[in-house]
Amino acid sequence: MDIERLRADTPGVSHRVHLNNAGSGLMPRTVLDAVKDHLDLEARIGGYEAKAQENDRIEAAYSSVARLIGAEKSEIAFVENATVAWQQAFFSQSFKEGDRILVAEVEYAANYVACLQMQKRTGCVIEVIPNDESGAIDCEALEQMLNERVKLIAITWIPTNGGLVNPATGVGRIARAHGIPYLLDACQAPGQMPVNVEELGCDFLSATGRKFMRGPRGTGFLYVRSKMLEHLEPYMLDLHGAVWTGPKTYEMRSDARRFETWESALALHLGLGAAADYALQIGLEAIQKRVLMLADRLRVDLNEIPGVSVQDIGAQQCAIVTFSHENIEADIIKAAMSAENINISVSKPPSTLLDSQARSLPDLVRVSPHYYNSEDEVETFLSALRRVISR
Ligand SMILES: Cc1ncc(COP(=O)(O)O)c(C=O)c1O
Repeated sequence: MDIERLRADTPGVSHRVHLNNAGSGLMPRTVLDAVKDHLDLEARIGGYEAKAQENDRIEAAYSSVARLIGAEKSEIAFVENATVAWQQAFFSQSFKEGDRILVAEVEYAANYVACLQMQKRTGCVIEVIPNDESGAIDCEALEQMLNERVKLIAITWIPTNGGLVNPATGVGRIARAHGIPYLLDACQAPGQMPVNVEELGCDFLSATGRKFMRGPRGTGFLYVRSKMLEHLEPYMLDLHGAVWTGPKTYEMRSDARRFETWESALALHLGLGAAADYALQIGLEAIQKRVLMLADRLRVDLNEIPGVSVQDIGAQQCAIVTFSHENIEADIIKAAMSAENINISVSKPPSTLLDSQARSLPDLVRVSPHYYNSEDEVETFLSALRRVISR
């Protein structure tokens, strides 16, 4: 991997040390250009006319995202963010009183709130799959929970609050063997590691564009397995998702775009496609290897700083590194880093409430390197942190 060239492609690296890729990755120039060029075209010739002119490229963006996760183009819908993607899949399921939804302990707040809302509306039950001793989902325990009342397994693969990578493939094997729909929140995965929906065995996968994919903000996508498209009706349908065929009839479109609405930010779709192409060009295995190297280095060095506790759990981990300090609050550390042009973030307990309560977690400092970060940048952060702590 030619880090210098990749950094030269990334305007943001000349201004800041950006270690907040789990929040929002820095866009490479090709992504920025794809968005700006289309906006310019819309301004110059008209929005509908720009769509007609660029239609092939807009279609190609779906193919690129499909390629990134090993799906078919017809299985991809573009939406505004990962939350909308997840909710489109979730609210299209039907639940009755006593039906069971199985979730992970590290479930993201938006997902869990939606489950609570569904519970309030229908009387369905939310149950948390136990963890193994490493803190990851225990697949054997999951298997023992199953019966005919389990109507959905909906887990977060990589949580917002740490380096854990849940065994999403193991969960998929079990879901498939028992014929239970499987919704995977993969928000933090695409762009930092290989993702393949066939291997994962998921029926639905939701993700965002702006994080490790390095796409523009306001983008996300939903994967829907083609088998599901045979019968699944979106909770909300419009004239893009279905054709109005008669006063009492409509016909859903055959592909996953039935989960979209007619109007959307096409410039951002092009940016998302460019981001997928860029990641594919570099190679997801090479990316994963480098981000793990940087994250491991951070964890090893953080562990040696007095008063610091690294808080990442799980046997398999990723490029999200979280820690707390015994005396200094996470917000103070973040502000001190920001004053030195270093971008990191803070993960607060309500974003992953179950896990935070189970582990009595305080606010956590979250540092999330990407492949374009240099070893020097990691060292710059560690030195700044040591200074703040020794003040
Ligand atoms: C695990 C996880 N799921 C879902 C989301 C929501 O993504 P979005 O903000 O794109 O809706 C996030 C965002 O941080 C996340 O970390």
